[in-house]
Amino acid sequence: MPNNNDEFILLTGRANPKLAHAIGKKLGVAVDEPVSSFADGEIRVRINSNVRRRMVVIVQPTSTPANDHIMELLFMIDAAKRASSSEVVVVLPYYGYSRQDRKEMSRVPISSSVVASLFMHAGADRILTLDIHSEQQEGFINKPWDNIFGSYSLIPEIKKRNLQNPVVAAPDKGGMVRATGYAKLLHVKELALVYKERDIKLHDVSNTLAMIGEVEGKDVLIVDDMISTGGTIVNAANYIREKGAKSVRIAATHGLFSGDALQKISDSAIDEVIVTDSIAHREEVLKNSKITIVSVAPLLAEAINRIRTGESISKDLIL
Ligand code: R5P
Repeated sequence: MPNNNDEFILLTGRANPKLAHAIGKKLGVAVDEPVSSFADGEIRVRINSNVRRRMVVIVQPTSTPANDHIMELLFMIDAAKRASSSEVVVVLPYYGYSRQDRKEMSRVPISSSVVASLFMHAGADRILTLDIHSEQQEGFINKPWDNIFGSYSLIPEIKKRNLQNPVVAAPDKGGMVRATGYAKLLHVKELALVYKERDIKLHDVSNTLAMIGEVEGKDVLIVDDMISTGGTIVNAANYIREKGAKSVRIAATHGLFSGDALQKISDSAIDEVIVTDSIAHREEVLKNSKITIVSVAPLLAEAINRIRTGESISKDLIL
């Protein structure tokens, strides 16, 4: 019996199978989990279904432990390629190493570029990312690379808060374009910007300096691409509260919550943090009363479906 070439195969590694299954449910396809471990800890990959002349879509955020998740992904790409798939689409709901996207000092690698090259050399034909740290990373490889925006998943949840005097704020200079995008989608006219000075020699340390915009008596929504140590959003939120904001919420696509981020958030002036499930969350994150999690499965399912059918991705999925 010949394959139906319209069918595609959805694979997941071990980084976020729950998200992959939610995507599969939306698309009406089963999800294959081909990754296990050998007794010595080496990764073993065996795709369970026939992929010959079919498009293979692999969902794997390269979140912590990033190196393990990258290796799983490389082996899945290679397995799909060698099994004669027609196209390998790599879906990275979170792209690890994306903050190492340039030479910010001498004698450092562009790690994000190295990782993208690995995917390409393993056989990836196309990459789909969600709110990658900087979009110019698409140029690291000579293959199609679409980046869509988590804001499309977060905005319906934000609207439910019915904020009365809303201001959208960026927690650093680099976040102003994102803040403008959110403000446009939320029909919010007021914007604020908190300046941050990051000393690149002290990893993960940031200092809030000053602000442009008026927040007194306002419901402030700080938007960012990711929360790692929580330093950026906590500094910005505390500063904004000191300036008289009525409430301070955070909307960020990727909730890494590294180190003591949860403690920092608990001790801060932040009322609520809204993140997506681009990364599989630890139990303590899921149980945290300040954190709301929104699924990006419908957004990613829509993007995958458009890749499959050849529809435009830019319409309604890109700001
Ligand atoms: C910075 O450029 C990013 O957009 C985030 O603001 C930053 O990576 C968040 O990291 P952290 O939570 O450790 O301050």
